[in-house]
Amino acid sequence: MTIIAVDGPAASGKGTIARALARHYGLPCLDTGLLYRAVGLSVLKAGGDPDHEADALAACDFDAPLLDDPALRSEAVGSLASRVSVHPGVRQALVQRQRDFATQPGGAILDGRDIGTVIAPDADAKIFVTASVHVRARRRYDDALAHGGHPDMDSLIADIQARDTRDMSRDHAPLRMADGADLLDTSDLTIEAAIRQAIALVDAQLEGRR
Ligand code: DC
Repeated sequence: MTIIAVDGPAASGKGTIARALARHYGLPCLDTGLLYRAVGLSVLKAGGDPDHEADALAACDFDAPLLDDPALRSEAVGSLASRVSVHPGVRQALVQRQRDFATQPGGAILDGRDIGTVIAPDADAKIFVTASVHVRARRRYDDALAHGGHPDMDSLIADIQARDTRDMSRDHAPLRMADGADLLDTSDLTIEAAIRQAIALVDAQLEGRR
């Protein structure tokens, strides 16, 4: 069984890298941010307050099809996800599902904020993907333009900074580099180069474990 943990801040490229690793190693992949996004969107739909733990907890048993809702991908829902994710009860409610996915026969790749620290601290390989705030905002900007949006660079930078601060400073399972993780800064890398480096880092970690 091979478990690979990919953590990092918003728009660092960790999702793209996790999916590429999944193809390369032939493992299933779980974007754990989607679970928090689904809770955030459910709270919104129920007219609840994402900063209120009881409202957020009530949204944790969302219906599975919600995970396929394209609305989950929006920046607004990303911010709601970050807000509901500070509540320890919400994190607890989502732990088992993530651990079950990680420990399925053959193993898995999970990407998120606390995979290498909390969900799978004994993962066979861990990488922490990051990039400068400016580069991450620029990626969001290009993405929004490509989808016909009218993005504003300053508000994208402010959103990313607010999300980083909340994700890194919360009391429970804050975003930080796990012990034994390798850092992959994608600021100056093409997607292809970032994927090549991620595979090289994971190969070296798996080799070192043998
Ligand atoms: O990876 P993402 O942008 O889809 O995540 C959305 C929010 O969900 C993120 O800002 C914080 C929260 N999250 C978390 O707390 N732990 C995870 N493992 C994944 C996401």
